[in-house]
Amino acid sequence: MTAQIIDGTAIALKVRNEVKEKVAARIAAGKSQPALATVLVGERVDSVAYVSMKQKACAELGMTSYHKPVPADISQEDLENLIKELNADPKVNGILVQLPLPSHLDEERVLQLINIEKDVDGFSPINLGRLAQKGREPLFVPCTPYGCIYLLKEAGVTIKGANAVVLGRSNIVGMPAALLLVKEDATVTIVHSRTKDIPAVLKNADIIIAAIGRAQMVRGDWIKPGAAVIDVGINGIPVLDDKGNPVLSEKTGKPKQKLVGDVNYDEAKEVAGFITPVPGGVGPMTIAMLMVNTLRAAEIQDQ
Ligand code: GUN
Repeated sequence: MTAQIIDGTAIALKVRNEVKEKVAARIAAGKSQPALATVLVGERVDSVAYVSMKQKACAELGMTSYHKPVPADISQEDLENLIKELNADPKVNGILVQLPLPSHLDEERVLQLINIEKDVDGFSPINLGRLAQKGREPLFVPCTPYGCIYLLKEAGVTIKGANAVVLGRSNIVGMPAALLLVKEDATVTIVHSRTKDIPAVLKNADIIIAAIGRAQMVRGDWIKPGAAVIDVGINGIPVLDDKGNPVLSEKTGKPKQKLVGDVNYDEAKEVAGFITPVPGGVGPMTIAMLMVNTLRAAEIQDQ
């Protein structure tokens, strides 16, 4: 069997176009332009790149973004004051604090300060608490897990009653993904570094969400034939030549790298029913869902 490839780039583009149309319609109706504030602490290369993609997406979709870069050594008090200012600013609909924060900062205290109506990342304890409770709905769902569920639904995968396995228990992906799957009536198992016999657990999974951060960890023969595999991993590995030696970049002289997921794609695509590629799977969905959440924040605040 060869899996159906779930094209995250195309699906994310569709979502972004829908948001763009809705933004244009609300502006035509005399409503405000949705606005996202991005808080970037320090200059981590990956965080700088992610925040810049988020600002670019806002511009493309007709939304405003206010960029708030602050130094890596900012005090807890100053960062909390910035969040309070953004909470109080009526022009700002969504607040995104790019994670991870430098280790001297208390992430939990920062996230719990964000007004839940502006919590477009869905990381505030109130939104996450609602996600974890039966019969309660969060105002916002964290963007990457939201994107994973969106991809499953777009591909026509039945979540209700499915055995779903989430690899990884991070606050950003694994835990909220598991909670969302429970809300969708899946039977959910969370696999982590202390799980015994991971291949045996996966063998029973109709849906796998891999977010454990280990390059190509999930092998083809761990996967149940026909399963849906959503790969959240983004890992850099060296490119090797025929003899297994690293290929050097002509420009820099350093070993060339390529991006792979947490799943061995070449093996898995022969067994799975559906699979997301890396890159071009979940990655583009994170920003698309952030745009959905930012528009939603503006709509909530219209009322
Ligand atoms: N760092 C990695 N992923 C995310 C995300 O979705 N939101 C924020 N704020 N930081 C991240």
